[in-house]
Amino acid sequence: MSRSVLITGGAGFIGSNFVHFWLEEYPEDRVVVLDALTYAGNLANLQTAVTNPRFRFYPGRIEDRTVVDGICRSERITHVVNFAAESHNDRSMVDPTGLIDANVTGVGILLRASKHFDIERFLHVSTDEVYGQIENGQFRETDPLLPRTPYSAGKAGGEMLVRAYHIAYGIPTVVTRGSNTFGPYQYPEKLLPFFITRALQDRPLPLYGTGTQVREWLYVTDHCRGIRSALLNGAVGEVYNLGGGNELTNLDITKLVLQLLGKPDCLIRHVPDPRGSAHDARYALDCTRIGSLGWRPQQAMHDALERTVRWYCDHRAWWEAIVQSEAYRSFVAGYYGPILGDDL
Ligand code: TYD
Repeated sequence: MSRSVLITGGAGFIGSNFVHFWLEEYPEDRVVVLDALTYAGNLANLQTAVTNPRFRFYPGRIEDRTVVDGICRSERITHVVNFAAESHNDRSMVDPTGLIDANVTGVGILLRASKHFDIERFLHVSTDEVYGQIENGQFRETDPLLPRTPYSAGKAGGEMLVRAYHIAYGIPTVVTRGSNTFGPYQYPEKLLPFFITRALQDRPLPLYGTGTQVREWLYVTDHCRGIRSALLNGAVGEVYNLGGGNELTNLDITKLVLQLLGKPDCLIRHVPDPRGSAHDARYALDCTRIGSLGWRPQQAMHDALERTVRWYCDHRAWWEAIVQSEAYRSFVAGYYGPILGDDL
């Protein structure tokens, strides 16, 4: 039976990659995107999808019950994959209001609709950050959620609603917790696209503190494949870690980027850490559970990073339109101005 898949946040980074992935992999399925097109949602990410007759786009917020219910009804939605979120830690530390609307309230509205319209599967895309930080070893799905930033607290709150809707109403939910993801179409505020695009402009790279924090990197197509495994084969009510297995310090990955771009290390600026004590030192995920569904990352880190760097080199118009926008410039000036000074 063909599916009608609602992909919320489908104009964002991982969401748009998932839209392309799904349209290609499942030629019988319809793909319906609901996206608020806030600063990070970009219709340019869906350029090749919009001409596909199996694709529909709706502008709107997941907090809007009328819009969500209308789409579920008219598009006869069978599966929901929720990418919609305010996803940037640095922004969440400046202003947490929007993130509670999208990351908590919106999840509740989607769950309510999933119950009402008898959705076959509800997959909620979460993050390794809900666990907080880990010095040694790896987080398992059974570990407690101990978020340490406003963003990760919002994501943990959304997850609690998913859990409760499954228990209370038997909604067939699945949650994935992905590690730091990278690849094409990522808004240039996260570490990699921010540093790649700044280095391409020969601008200094603000590395927080010593740069010894560790992140586990996952290429976006591997992330999409992991979500697919959990959506189609995951156990209902279950949570699945999706880790890339590539642990690198921020300093090391920054040096790799500079090397790939042929730019000098002297672009790196060690700046006072704007996240302060909320800066998580390390994330790492145990992926045994999703491994039992047959998933493991396929992309080698160096190749994937090289491909990503090349994509930003080849898609200058895409990111230049963003970095020249007033909204972007004012965020960068307001957030980085005080720590970068003349290097801004
Ligand atoms: P980020 O890409 O924002 O993802 P997350 O906070 O979800 O891990 O940041 C990755 C790491 O890079 C994190 O340890 C913070 C650090 N970082 C910098 O050092 N400088 C920057 O300008 C940014 C955006 C991040």
